[in-house]
Amino acid sequence: MRLSRRFAVAVVGVSALLATAACNSTGDDGTAVKDVEVFTWWADGGEKAGLDGLVSAFGTDCANFTFVNGAVAGGAGSNAKQVLASRLAQSDPPDTFQAHAGAELSDYINAGQIEDLSQEYKDWGLTNAFPQGLIDNLTVDGKIYSVPANIHRANVIWSNKSVTAAAGITQDATTLDGFFADLEKLKAKGVTPLALGKDWTQLMLFEAVLISDLGADKFTGLWNGSTPWDGADVTKAIADYQKLLGYTNKDTRDTFDWTDAEKLLMDGKAGYQLMGDWEAADLDAKGFTGYGYSAFPGNGATFQWLADSFVLPKGAANVEGTKCWLKTVGSAAGQKAFNTKKGSIPARTDAVPGDYPAYQQAAIADWKSQKQVPSCAHGAGCSQGYMGALNAAMGKFSSDGDAAALQTALVAAAGQFSK
Ligand code: GAL
Repeated sequence: MRLSRRFAVAVVGVSALLATAACNSTGDDGTAVKDVEVFTWWADGGEKAGLDGLVSAFGTDCANFTFVNGAVAGGAGSNAKQVLASRLAQSDPPDTFQAHAGAELSDYINAGQIEDLSQEYKDWGLTNAFPQGLIDNLTVDGKIYSVPANIHRANVIWSNKSVTAAAGITQDATTLDGFFADLEKLKAKGVTPLALGKDWTQLMLFEAVLISDLGADKFTGLWNGSTPWDGADVTKAIADYQKLLGYTNKDTRDTFDWTDAEKLLMDGKAGYQLMGDWEAADLDAKGFTGYGYSAFPGNGATFQWLADSFVLPKGAANVEGTKCWLKTVGSAAGQKAFNTKKGSIPARTDAVPGDYPAYQQAAIADWKSQKQVPSCAHGAGCSQGYMGALNAAMGKFSSDGDAAALQTALVAAAGQFSK
């Protein structure tokens, strides 16, 4: 048990490791268990700044308990999820872990790995604190299983404004055709028009293209089984996506995390990047102010959402401490401390927009007024098995460019994993 716990925290550094080594988690001596190991993939930049905000609220609300950082670095949980799966398989859960609302959370519920929090929702006055649609994504058979920390938007295109201006782009495109024309202008300037990273970031870009080509309702249907993957509209989206790949950093994209692609943008070596709105917080944390943002071209008034939430795992060593963490996550003060630094908007409906930076103020308005569709790359729309199959298919397509094989793989993944 100790070994795997140490492995998980080693990634975030020696101090966290020492803190864990000193952990008194068994309570065998009858003393109260203090440490609360919080497992995330928020190890750096804006993500870490958000976590730090939450930790400071926890320190105020839960002074009897000690936060232990179990973060495992790697965008979208690319490393963390593997470590977590192995710990859960060994009945060695952290005290709490980050899970996406929607299909991904259902994976943990169906596997019997997390506890029902319905009573805590009543005790803490959370029942009416969040939008009903979000609650539905945290609920199975009438029981609520996690506390949402935020709502992120996935379908945002970020730009380096000096680079786009130098290429003569005065306004971000609102259609795919307009976007291709702008990417040509950037190419002529000798920069990477569109910075891209590996598998899951490629899936995000592909999802954005699918929203443009299929529209919001048919896109949502891909995840609930009502839109087939073998249609001509998906074939067109694959062709458009392939054309976009031609404007990306081909030699590095399959090894880059999202922050590596972001660095191309910050360094003035790329014009655009499609990424979720954790990028706003990360650019802010890194002191880069010359960025612009728009909905991905052709996505119109569609808000592609995902939400981070925290759970109480079955067998958690410190149940009381974890409940205190979860209560903080759901509180107005906790959501403000977290989301003002994370780039996301609060899941609570009673948040005050004026408390947030400019980007989030725009996102709060869009979340209320726009059509909502789920993200598969971040677990809202598809299960972890489905997501893994699609990430693998995108990675393969990045190297072999075989459009027919990609569509066959998408159809096969849906057949295996779609409900
Ligand atoms: C998402 C997560 C976000 C952000 C992002 C990049 O899956 O929901 O909060 O951390 O990954 O790592």
